Amino acid sequence: MREWFYLGKEWIESRFPAREFWEDHLVKYYAPKYLNFWYFFGSLAMLVFAIQVITGIFLTMNYKPTAGTAFASVEYIMRDVNWGWLIRYMHSTGASFFFIVIYLHMFRAFLYGSYQKPRELLWLFGVLLFVLLMAEAFMGYLLPWGQMSFWGAQVIISLFGAIPVIGSDLALWIRGDYVVADATLNRFFAFHVIAFPLLLIGLVVFHLIALHRVGSNNPDGIEIKEKKNEQGIPLDGIPFHPYFTLKDMLGAIVFLMIFSAVVFYYPEMGGWFLEKDNFIPADPLKTPEHITPLWYFTPFYAILRAVPDKFLGVMLMGAAIAVLFVVPWLDRSPVRSIRYRGPIYKIALAVFVICFVGLGYLGTVAATPAATIFSRIGTFIYFAFFLLMPIYTRLDKSKPLPDRVTK
Ligand code: HEM
Repeated sequence: MREWFYLGKEWIESRFPAREFWEDHLVKYYAPKYLNFWYFFGSLAMLVFAIQVITGIFLTMNYKPTAGTAFASVEYIMRDVNWGWLIRYMHSTGASFFFIVIYLHMFRAFLYGSYQKPRELLWLFGVLLFVLLMAEAFMGYLLPWGQMSFWGAQVIISLFGAIPVIGSDLALWIRGDYVVADATLNRFFAFHVIAFPLLLIGLVVFHLIALHRVGSNNPDGIEIKEKKNEQGIPLDGIPFHPYFTLKDMLGAIVFLMIFSAVVFYYPEMGGWFLEKDNFIPADPLKTPEHITPLWYFTPFYAILRAVPDKFLGVMLMGAAIAVLFVVPWLDRSPVRSIRYRGPIYKIALAVFVICFVGLGYLGTVAATPAATIFSRIGTFIYFAFFLLMPIYTRLDKSKPLPDRVTK
């Protein structure tokens, strides 16, 4: 029996390099010996992605992507399909959790300067993932064909109409009709279930290939590859497997406990994860009182609404996302980690976080004159954080770096 097993193993190994891959990327991949809480979110993002793909496959088995049947098919999934309610709530809660995880994952990069040289490309793949994820979530939200699905899509697609010259033709081309309609739903379904997930998977692979080329940063922001022993192993490195596979498993268990608590006890999160208007079938003749996107889009939505001119608003909202691409070149600090940066960066980051959360809130409320003023202030701070970065990161007084990774 044993011989047969080894023969089989050898047969496969001489034809398929699974073991080499496992060794190179897990057992002989050295990660910094100390990685804290903030380093859980990359593997958690992969976990949520897997949950989304699996629950998405099961939803697709009963979902019917036409304007006449979509809403009823989602209700059918919720009421009649065995475990359908669980699959649907896992998918809808999963979408919000994906963004919670991703926002924390991105915040870590600002804490520890993870986008700095040599991790620029890793960061660029990340920002691209973020953009695609937003598109994926936006298209997914149309599928239940509720009031918010319909009107949210109507508002966002009409933004393209604000582009001079080509705008209205572009919006028409995206919708496939003069209003959001069956054709729109069909194409969003195709993009949501296959095109974008494929792109996302490809980009996650690129993100990880780039990560494994340069190695993980760490809370000290120092390069572990600079100090190696005689065998060429970083002195402050430990094998990813079993140390971090086990640690990430702990993160996954805690995450799943929190995730389950929400899925089972509070799946709509009081309207934050599933809006109440979306339990009403789409009605092209009746506009809901407040059209607001889900929470993860609202900081950018607030920036859009802060500008009186529609086209300029669209441009500024685009710029708010686009500026993320150039962050590695805006940050001129000689140190990576916030631990060794001076007070200016610490204050700037704290103010930025407050302003981003504030904008997120402002994007959910009606655009009163007061809300508009606050949104303008928030927008100003948002851009100041990035555009002044080359100046204040150079002025900031950094502390000396330690020789080796500390705790
Ligand atoms: C589907 C989405 C994503 C997945 C599955 C993913 C996965 C991962 C994983 C597994 C790691 C290594 C573990 C860790 O450091 O936490 C990582 C690192 C990293 N990711 Fe992502 N990521 C995603 C999106 C993003 C986004 C949106 C950004 C930024 C805009 C980003 C930026 C980074 C950076 C800078 C690192 C290196 C961090 C360091 O070493 O300090 N990632 N990612």
